[in-house]
Amino acid sequence: MPLMTTKPMFDLAYGGGFAVGAFNVNNMEISQAIIEACAAEKSPLILQISKGARKYANMRYLKHMIDAAVEEHPEIPIAIHLDHGDTVELVKTCINDGFTSVMIDGSHHPYEENVHVTADAVKVAHAAGVVVEAELGMLGGIEEDVVGLSAEEYEKNIEKFLTDPKQAIDFYKRTNIDSLAVAIGTSHGAYKFKHEAKLAFNRIEELMKTCPGLPLVMHGSSSVPQEFVELVNQYGGKMPNAKGVPEDQISMAVRNYGVCKVNIDTDLRLAMTAKIREVFATKPAEFDPRNYLGPAREAIQKMVQRKLHVLNSAGKADAIMKHWEKLGKPLPSFYNKTKAA
Ligand code: G3H
Ligand code: 13P
Ligand code: ZN
Repeated sequence: MPLMTTKPMFDLAYGGGFAVGAFNVNNMEISQAIIEACAAEKSPLILQISKGARKYANMRYLKHMIDAAVEEHPEIPIAIHLDHGDTVELVKTCINDGFTSVMIDGSHHPYEENVHVTADAVKVAHAAGVVVEAELGMLGGIEEDVVGLSAEEYEKNIEKFLTDPKQAIDFYKRTNIDSLAVAIGTSHGAYKFKHEAKLAFNRIEELMKTCPGLPLVMHGSSSVPQEFVELVNQYGGKMPNAKGVPEDQISMAVRNYGVCKVNIDTDLRLAMTAKIREVFATKPAEFDPRNYLGPAREAIQKMVQRKLHVLNSAGKADAIMKHWEKLGKPLPSFYNKTKAA
């Protein structure tokens, strides 16, 4: 049973020069591609599911797909994580569905409200043996839309939106979270920078100093590889000026600055879409879904394998399994209940 919380993973990632990749799952091909990539690279994995994914795919289907992945590859440490949970109710539902890790994202609320909703989620989750990620600061992309900012305005005033290291330690002490998603210049989606693509490394350094022991998480960490943007545009798509975080900066944030979890969704969507567009454009008579979803699945797997090297998590599965065993193979209470039933 290699399902676990992120604790055994972050124990080794913290100060270990690698980060665990958190990849979003929305359907069968995506989940197969991710798990096969991690198996091929002997890498730990955080499979993350958003509220939108739950709605799109139906949690019951997702759950069985995850069970299948775990059966196929019992050698790979896997955590099942709620991405951007917005209410304590959703957190409770996910705990009952067997998630081993949840995110409560109150970053768009005023600070005190973020503290309260996060502390409530932590109480509920820790009582069930589930770990919690929260967020402080404001990322670009979806989050700037929430508060009605333009991308230009966001980028011009970036310092104001980055996570405040002093607030972070107050937040950590008052909520008892297990990891913190921080705003350090990344943003969600395929249009991350209008000007120079640059992460605020000094901010990561300050956060590591003010919050020792707290694993930091980077959302919005797709690099939007230009060869895939070009394929999309070549075959009838329209993604002008799509730009991500350069992979060498992600690698630096992980290896030199200690970020423990890196969220990637857009790059998987991009690989899938580029491949499907290519098949449709070059083989217009094709109408068997296996002949375009199959190549799309392969493209996602290659993309994930490439990311596992950027994150330096390739080859780390065994050490995490051993550490988890040493800890006594702790699992959230959902699994004990299931065993007892
Ligand atoms: O950060 C958001 C993730 O990319 C998930 O996106 O809410 O469209 O599933 P979604
Ligand atoms: P990207 O849009 O950069 O892939 O970020 C995904 C993410 O942060 C999911 O929570
Ligand atoms: Zn995110």
